[in-house]
Amino acid sequence: MAKIISIVNHKGGVGKTTSSVNIAASLSLMGYKVLGVDMDPQAHFSILSSQIRDYGEEVVGNLMLKRRTFDQVVQKSTTYEFLPSSKEMTRLEKEISFSVSPVKALAHAFTKAKVSELYDFVIIDCPPALGTLTLNALNACQYVVSSFTPEPLTWAGFTDMFTTINAVAEYDNPTLKYAGVFFTKYHPNMRNREAHAIADVVRQTEGEQAFTTYIRSDLNLQKMLLQKRSVLEFAPESNAAIDYKNLTDELLEKIN
Ligand SMILES: Nc1ncnc2c1ncn2[C@@H]1O[C@H](COP(=O)(O)OP(=O)(O)OP(=O)(O)O)[C@@H](O)[C@H]1O
Ligand SMILES: [Mg+2]
Repeated sequence: MAKIISIVNHKGGVGKTTSSVNIAASLSLMGYKVLGVDMDPQAHFSILSSQIRDYGEEVVGNLMLKRRTFDQVVQKSTTYEFLPSSKEMTRLEKEISFSVSPVKALAHAFTKAKVSELYDFVIIDCPPALGTLTLNALNACQYVVSSFTPEPLTWAGFTDMFTTINAVAEYDNPTLKYAGVFFTKYHPNMRNREAHAIADVVRQTEGEQAFTTYIRSDLNLQKMLLQKRSVLEFAPESNAAIDYKNLTDELLEKIN
């Protein structure tokens, strides 16, 4: 049965998509069958995963609205399969929110397509918001993981996210578990004192929920846009590739 993991933080630019791509690729390279799901109308996960620039209507939102089948929408990257997004998802999100299954449409689509039997892992990249698309991800998964850049404003909104996760776990998806938070764009030797202070607060507050692996700042991650594949494939010796492999190992320990 597939383990389904959402990467969530409603703060923008904290490394959700970069991490989703590299964790999905890392699991695939370990031999697991992996499905990525792009829930963000910005479609960055899709853009980083293939040469196709715009998936138009052939997106996960139309699968959720039952206007496309799983086989019509699913795509292949160099390592994993994925359900793409496009800017059309902004409009489709509104339609989903007025449909009969406003927060369970993705879960129903997974059930119908037998996703749990077809894959070992599903990695859902969420938009920087706690709206209908993120709520669908939270209702379709068993685990939530957050990426976090050690900045004051990222921490400021963090508790709102837990309110939402707890509400979904209490009322809608009792299988939902918080698997933890990891730091991105982080280096313990950096000079920025604020960042260290925030990282310490998060570690103290989150306790065992904080991953010991952190993702260092690495410009190789910004080359993914040209490469259209994970850093593990085009720069396997880089800090980023090493960190994402370690992070994936730690994630497997946490959820097994
Ligand atoms: N460890 C890192 N080192 C250097 N740059 C990074 C690192 N992680 C991410 N980036 C860069 O930071 C930017 C934001 O990352 P990313 O798109 O993964 O964040 P996000 O949380 O998905 O953003 P959004 O909320 O807009 O979807 C990107 O340009 C990415 O290449
Ligand atoms: Mg993103």
